[in-house]
Amino acid sequence: MDNVLIIDFGGQYTHLITRRVRDLGVYAEILPFDINYKKIKETKPKAIILSGGPSSVYEDNSPNLSKDFFKFTFDNKIPVLGICYGHHVIMQILGGKVEQKQKKEYGKVNLKILGENLLFDTLGKEEIVWMSHGDQITKMANGFKIYAKTETCPIAAYGNEEKMLFGVQFHPEVVNTPKGNIILENFIFKIANCKKEWKMENWIEQTIENIINEVGSDNRVILGLSGGIDSSVTAILIHKAIGDRLHSIFVNNGLLRKNEHIDVQNTFESKLNFKNFHYVDAENLFLERLKDIEDPEEKRRIIGHSFIEVFEHKTIELEKTYPDIKYLAQGTIYPDRVETSATSKASAKIKSHHNLTLPDNMKLEIIEPLKDLYKDEVRRIGMKLGVPKEIITRHPFPGPGLAVRIIGPIDKEKLEILRDADEILIEEIKNAGVYESLWQAFCVFLPLKTVGTMGDYRTYEYICAIRAVESLDVMTANFAKLDMDLLEKIGTRIINEVKGINRVVYDISNKPPSTIEYE
Ligand code: XMP
Repeated sequence: MDNVLIIDFGGQYTHLITRRVRDLGVYAEILPFDINYKKIKETKPKAIILSGGPSSVYEDNSPNLSKDFFKFTFDNKIPVLGICYGHHVIMQILGGKVEQKQKKEYGKVNLKILGENLLFDTLGKEEIVWMSHGDQITKMANGFKIYAKTETCPIAAYGNEEKMLFGVQFHPEVVNTPKGNIILENFIFKIANCKKEWKMENWIEQTIENIINEVGSDNRVILGLSGGIDSSVTAILIHKAIGDRLHSIFVNNGLLRKNEHIDVQNTFESKLNFKNFHYVDAENLFLERLKDIEDPEEKRRIIGHSFIEVFEHKTIELEKTYPDIKYLAQGTIYPDRVETSATSKASAKIKSHHNLTLPDNMKLEIIEPLKDLYKDEVRRIGMKLGVPKEIITRHPFPGPGLAVRIIGPIDKEKLEILRDADEILIEEIKNAGVYESLWQAFCVFLPLKTVGTMGDYRTYEYICAIRAVESLDVMTANFAKLDMDLLEKIGTRIINEVKGINRVVYDISNKPPSTIEYE
């Protein structure tokens, strides 16, 4: 299958470039700029895109490539497109000059296209593009033609058709460059002649076949199923491949949303007919261990360790009956595995609480059928596989569950209050038809008592915060500007119906500087 290699220089849009290329029907993957050439050769790229990045090519130790890289692409007839920093890298290495701009150009600007070329094929003479860098090319290397300019940037795009090297100062991958997709299409199909082979149908068929071949006709697979989209789609794919030789373990850690443990059981046992769905009720164990624990990191640590312990215990028990359990399946997806330089710092933090590494002594081979997919691809696959809609559209829910939404120590009473409030919030948001437009919406329990009045009585009860955010990539999020009448309805219902809450507040913080969750 044809593939496009994205070389990462630390740009915030590296994953976005990859997704755009895949959405055009060609497989794309990311490698860091300092990867050794052997690895690049092994991926046999049909085209290469050099990403943007925050550095300046003229600085010491800035991320770079070597002349050999371009010899390799030329010898192998692999077209290269540099975007922003990538556009500077090509020029700098091949003899051009990049300098800091006097007048910086950020945001939407008017691009004037000079003459005809394949990269800008079918575009008008002027197009809006998105700029975001303080450097620009001031001298071209030999053999390159200027393809476009802007008011303050005389070399906003270039090409060297013989060497198949192209560069754009702006970002074609962002929605603020309205015709950006056409530029990427031109590069991938008209210049690199890639074939559209990245199709979800082919992927499903091929993956099921791979699972059958890998697992063989007798072995069994074990999977930790949370009911979230990644583990659910993994479960359904493997179930299609090997049927009830898949053993799914669902751990109720006592920190789930209202009725979640029942809903997940119903979905898999009744609707999807999973015979080997193993429900483990570990509520008491988790809550006992979390008693009086204040520190958020400590809560996460306890939850993570307890989960592994419970999971391992259940696996060992099952292995006694089914000695052919040889594989452990996981719902790892592409962004979990590939950290671009721009996201690795943030992901390192998220990872510390997200992804549990199961102990080596479990001696099971790992299978991760979704390891090359993005979340939206997992959703599309899920839809094609007939995964129930409520799973596909469900908001992300953190591994430590409601524990990160109760500030300070956790107990059953607080969990009940939070579950009841959260259920009302979600019900009203769904009724108002806005659930699917939100990245996440949830309630948070604030262990602060304030005064209120109910009938003739003064009350002294807890505060519930409502958090509803819109986000595309989780790295940034805006609080949702929910309708005031809807907020009023939610607040009134929570105060009237949930015993223990007499005040509801709406969180108006964006990420950054705040985070989505509270702990
Ligand atoms: P933050 O709060 O860092 O959240 O803005 C970003 C995304 O990650 C989820 N999240 C977690 N997921 N374990 C998880 O599995 C956690 O401890 C955790 N903390 C945050 C959060 O729901 C949001 O989607």
